[in-house]
Amino acid sequence: MDKKSFYITTPIYYPSANAHIGHGLTTVLADAMTRYKKMKGYQTCFLTGMDEHGQKIAKAAAAAGKTPQQHVDDMAVVWRSLWEKLLIENDIFIRTTEERHTRGVVQIFKTIYDKGDIYLSRYQGWYCVSCEAYFTERQVGEEHRCPDCGKEVEVIEEESYFFKMSKYQDQLLRHIEENPGFIQPVSRRNEMLSFIKSGLEDLCISRTSFDWGIPVPVNEKHVIYVWFDALSNYVTALGYGSDDTSLLEKYWPADVHLMAKDIIRFHTVIWPIILMAADIPLPKMVFGHGWVLLDSGKMSKSLGNVVDPVILIEKYGVAAVRYFLLREIPSGQDGYYSESALVQRLNYDLANDYGNLVSRTVAMVVQYFEGIVPEGGASQPLDEELRTLAARVCEEAGDSMDKLDFANALSAIFRLISRANKYIDETTPWLLAKDAAQRERLAVVLRHLLETVRISTMLLSPAMPNIPSLVWAQTGHQPEDCLTWEQLAWGATKAGQNVRKGAVLFPRIDWERDEEENAKAASAKAGPAEAGVAKPAEIEYDAFMKTDLRVAEVLSCKPVPKADKLLQMEVDIGGERRTLVAGVALHYQPEELVGQKIVVVANLKPAKLRGITSQGMLLAADSGDRVIVLTLPPDTPSGAKVK
Ligand code: ME8
Ligand code: MG
Repeated sequence: MDKKSFYITTPIYYPSANAHIGHGLTTVLADAMTRYKKMKGYQTCFLTGMDEHGQKIAKAAAAAGKTPQQHVDDMAVVWRSLWEKLLIENDIFIRTTEERHTRGVVQIFKTIYDKGDIYLSRYQGWYCVSCEAYFTERQVGEEHRCPDCGKEVEVIEEESYFFKMSKYQDQLLRHIEENPGFIQPVSRRNEMLSFIKSGLEDLCISRTSFDWGIPVPVNEKHVIYVWFDALSNYVTALGYGSDDTSLLEKYWPADVHLMAKDIIRFHTVIWPIILMAADIPLPKMVFGHGWVLLDSGKMSKSLGNVVDPVILIEKYGVAAVRYFLLREIPSGQDGYYSESALVQRLNYDLANDYGNLVSRTVAMVVQYFEGIVPEGGASQPLDEELRTLAARVCEEAGDSMDKLDFANALSAIFRLISRANKYIDETTPWLLAKDAAQRERLAVVLRHLLETVRISTMLLSPAMPNIPSLVWAQTGHQPEDCLTWEQLAWGATKAGQNVRKGAVLFPRIDWERDEEENAKAASAKAGPAEAGVAKPAEIEYDAFMKTDLRVAEVLSCKPVPKADKLLQMEVDIGGERRTLVAGVALHYQPEELVGQKIVVVANLKPAKLRGITSQGMLLAADSGDRVIVLTLPPDTPSGAKVK
């Protein structure tokens, strides 16, 4: 019998110079899913690639002083290297300028044309160059702006080929209704159903006004409109239109087309209708995940706020970047990226919880059993509880990954990891080690820990594929015993196995110190480069008076969780309450400050620290190792101006 197969695709990306963590999310998710399916015994095929035709790309190439082909060749190198750095193991990298693709597109066009579902007519309407999409009068509104990107649209009037989409409206509706899993998550399905019910128009699928595209086979004056060209990649990459259809037979229909919600419409309306018209079966699922957002909104090239995954990988390692994307962006929903959130995930989940579990376990086997895994013995209820939880977590993680819900899968896996850390505290191996009569008990405990490390490392491997080999080198597990889903079954840790200490898997990042150093470096750059303390430049009286200094009373004060240096306080600046976050926790106990009259910069732009918005800054004298908060006599009125 043939193995079960699994075919997953990302979008083929535009060859822009700004690949960012949003693209990273889609591709990492597809990669993790593929690795999970491999564990489950599937034969997998994972496609990503580049969408290289169209006017926008021709224009970008011209601006860069290159031919379009040279431009896309250069970009393909950049994107491929990004995917390599993110440990993406795609089977196919399709580029729409490749012959295997153009040949397949021509074949699809001809098939549909011969059937009579493509006809020549005139197109008049609105076109957004940037989005490469046509819009109706109603969609562009009175201001004639693109409903997607907001840029001005152009009027276009030209001879065009049209695709009879309207003919397939009912068939598509029926398909979506009869196949509840076709569009995921459900919210996207409902959006699409109402969009289709509002009526489909025939689609303009060729242009004569530019030539960077695949020529229409029956009329060389025309090139094929980008979406008809691009969507076809999912089958041309498998050999559609060639003599060798073995991959198509093996992998088509696709199991998952993965993308963000921006292009769900193209994949659940145009693509299925192309397939219906060409008599090709429809994919099983189109999954639209959410946006990776920044606090300041959406990442966009024009805002210049894209986050480069390569820089993050260099700073924090690829495992942390992949883990963050999969853990922090809830399945199917939008999620937020910030560097401090990434560092927190790295410090708390990866370093404190997981990394610590591995290093504590390894250290104890080395210390108490000279690094040789001992024979086991009778287990106790506490051990059985850990084993039961491990089995339950395997099941829950698997169910979640089946639904592409890595956020939930990872949170389940970390429940097991936390439980194992607590198990160490409960079983107190360091006390057992002091008592010769507890030798067997100690062995049982450490074997349970090794097994939990093994299972959680395997479960984490789709998300962080570079970590298992580092762990096995320490725990002495045989890599080939830790590959498949069946091998998650409890009990592969063997007596006699060699355990040795290794490098820390996830060194903690001192984010506050790094932030301070960055700030110091920045001010050092800005100031005069004299030896010793830089003397600030003179300012005018007016410049000083722009700083609104006020007396404030500290009403309450508490530490900021997980931040060693920060205190959060509520202050009264004369009838107005404010929240301040101040980096004085190493110098003051919270209760020392309550009731004090302090000086606050009241018109400082609010800043977010550890998720808390600080609405001002207190003044303090800083001598390097001592910090003294400026205080005033208790009867100084709150709100009084300081000048
Ligand atoms: O649309 N958050 O290519 P594209 C999450 N060539 N995902 C994001 C994202 C963000 N902030 N920004 C981008 C195209 N993406 C066409 C596709 S397919 C036949 C043709 C991801 O380069 C997400 O997967 O604009 C989104 O769907 C895709 O990049 C769009 O990539
Ligand atoms: Mg886009």
